[in-house]
Amino acid sequence: MTEHPDLQRRSLLCTAAVTVAVLGTTTAATTQPLLEKAIMPTLHAFESQTTLKPLAFDPAKLSGLSERLIRSHWENNYGGSVKALEVVKKHLAEALANKDTPPYIYNALKREHLLRTGSVVFHEDYFDNLGGNGQAGATERKVIADAFGSFDTWETEFRRIGAGLGGGSGWVMLGFNTHTHQLENYWLADHAHGPAATLPLLVMDMYEHSYQMDYGAAAAKYIDAFFKNIQWEVVARRIETARQVSRT
Ligand SMILES: [Fe+2]
Repeated sequence: MTEHPDLQRRSLLCTAAVTVAVLGTTTAATTQPLLEKAIMPTLHAFESQTTLKPLAFDPAKLSGLSERLIRSHWENNYGGSVKALEVVKKHLAEALANKDTPPYIYNALKREHLLRTGSVVFHEDYFDNLGGNGQAGATERKVIADAFGSFDTWETEFRRIGAGLGGGSGWVMLGFNTHTHQLENYWLADHAHGPAATLPLLVMDMYEHSYQMDYGAAAAKYIDAFFKNIQWEVVARRIETARQVSRT
């Protein structure tokens, strides 16, 4: 089976992070060629992925989130952003090549580029951290408890941020800030609102399209359902990547 191009890209980025960690004590002259190889992008800056990343779980088997909702969300909202990003990047390339393109017109495209990129990345993070049994393992619980005082404190804050976004739009993220080296929950008002220097560990979509089909305006019921379906094994792998980065 051919690996999805986005997975290849993610794998390279992960490899880059690990490489930085592993090579921390070697000389710059030694590490430079290896780093250049590790972070070599798979896509040109003006290209984007053309296919949707498949769901890693059977959408008919989630608890409290219908197959109809998940398939519609994946195909129409996530898929719409994948297609839109592809179109935006083509327009950017054409606009850049045209010396008469006004900068404010160019930046209108760059704004859409930022939003659509965030939508694609956060949606892939979101679907990837669904499909589990909602039971956090001992390691994840300890890492989170150490950062927040208790696992329950973390969950309370994560849920409260989600509740505050109910009826509107945005994302909730448990993230590792590679600058402050802190594990924190973040409020994101939209797809372009990613916290600085932060690796997403757990992402919850709070746009109404995430739950309206199943729960109407009852966002709290959706949050309960989300927690029942968290794929904590994915979160654990993201925590391990964050640990590698934090050692650099
Ligand atoms: Fe969404």
